[in-house]
Amino acid sequence: MKEFPRKSRSLLIGSTVGLIAALALGGCSSNSGSAILGGGSVLNPTPEPPKITLGDPHIYPTDIQVEGLTGQRILSSTGSEARWSYLPGDQAFNPVLASLVGDYLSSQAQTREMSYIPEAQEPSEALLDRGCVSGSTSLSAQEILENPDLSLYSDGQIQQTITCEPVLASGTTFGERLRIVRGNPTEVVSDWVEVLYTDTATGETARGRDVIQEAALPVLLDALYENLKLDQPMSGGQVVPPSSETLADLKVSLYNVGFNDRGDAVVTVDGAFTSVIAAGDQKYQPKAETLVLPAERATELLTPLGAAISAAKASSLPWSGPGAVASGNEYVDCDLIPCVAVTYDDGPSAESTPVVLDAYSSRPYAAATFFLLGTNVLGNEQVLQRAVAEGHELANHSWNHPAFTTLDDASIQAEWGDTTKAIEDATGQTVKYLRPPYGDMDERTRMTYPYPTILWSVDTNDWQHPGTDVVVQRALDGAEPDGIILMHDIHPDTVAGAGAIVDGLLMRGYTLVTIDQLFTGNPPPQGQYFWDAQMVRDARHADEAQ
Ligand code: NI
Repeated sequence: MKEFPRKSRSLLIGSTVGLIAALALGGCSSNSGSAILGGGSVLNPTPEPPKITLGDPHIYPTDIQVEGLTGQRILSSTGSEARWSYLPGDQAFNPVLASLVGDYLSSQAQTREMSYIPEAQEPSEALLDRGCVSGSTSLSAQEILENPDLSLYSDGQIQQTITCEPVLASGTTFGERLRIVRGNPTEVVSDWVEVLYTDTATGETARGRDVIQEAALPVLLDALYENLKLDQPMSGGQVVPPSSETLADLKVSLYNVGFNDRGDAVVTVDGAFTSVIAAGDQKYQPKAETLVLPAERATELLTPLGAAISAAKASSLPWSGPGAVASGNEYVDCDLIPCVAVTYDDGPSAESTPVVLDAYSSRPYAAATFFLLGTNVLGNEQVLQRAVAEGHELANHSWNHPAFTTLDDASIQAEWGDTTKAIEDATGQTVKYLRPPYGDMDERTRMTYPYPTILWSVDTNDWQHPGTDVVVQRALDGAEPDGIILMHDIHPDTVAGAGAIVDGLLMRGYTLVTIDQLFTGNPPPQGQYFWDAQMVRDARHADEAQ
């Protein structure tokens, strides 16, 4: 009956003919009872679905706990501070979230005519505290700008603070709310909210308003007219169907999209939109209105993702999405956060490699890459299995450390081939990168193995035994975003300093990534080599340059 305007309907319902007509059309008076059929038998028709009603704005929970979220935190001289959290491991949600955060970081940088690039910071223990903060997305904008957990510094100019909070974790469905505030201590310039939902079972990921079907927009519009008792636009006694512009305006006016414990979707419509559809209706004072979309109509009104969230909430399902993974298996976007790759050559060693592994396993946001000698792999299989289980990367450093340019092709092939086989046989991890001994290479040798060539941007010269403090200092001083630090896990100075290096890098805001994380899991082609941070960044964006 929704096609009948409200005034006409009241006329119709006043007459018997009208009532019958309404019933025949599957009328909108939902409790109109059963239809009487010819034989006198009474059948219950399909009950009318519950109506969309007005309700209170959704209040997001502040007590959702999810194990294993990967906290991120950046400070930027472009005037941004941001916290966000990824789901554990390789989830479709993560790059979508990274892209959303990246857009806000870029747009803030553009206000200062700068580009956003990750930066290291002065050492601070505050930078060990990363990711979402409980309750932070519900603070006032001014509180967010002044909260020392969210805003470490102010340069007096307009700056941007982004904070986050998980607001849904039910079954395989997850939601994270971002709050993006711009301003300075005396003035709030803008205040945005984004909620990003995902179903980890399907990978479907969408912003809040995008869990509502396009086809449901006319239904929502009708519900607004009906609930607010507004006159619909009429022409020649017929309701004028909403234009595509009106529906598009409605879509962008939807915000604060959440789900209550019944599984109803709760959606607020901006007051600017209700003022447009109420134009000329003196009885209604336009304001933001909240619609409650009943769970029973989830598949009709919501996308498959929205319906999955509704079902999970209605059944009070506990979180059953992915659990915590090791640092080296976490999602990273090194265009948003400062990444650095710490690499250890010439091992493994049964005595010293486990000490390095201990230093990493007791610290978050840290994984390393081990460039192994095939001759040392044999007999140390358990050490390497542990390294893989703890998220570290194993890579190829030849069988017994010859200078490749002194060898013919067949000899190099034996060096890398036997080593890759030994590593993969011992651990099951696929080898993707190679570092030639001494960094010795040329155009010919680089094409004898199927991997990119990974050199280094920082050489700690730890093989000269300069002492632990010097090794640590060289690593910390030489680090830069997208840098690659060279050490050896067979030297006592290096092994003793492993924990101090991890701590020092973390306190500068770095995430310690594997080589594969540095390249976002996409190894550059054979023949390419890397000895500085810019080469790494260029390779990461090679597909965009074409
Ligand atoms: Ni070496």
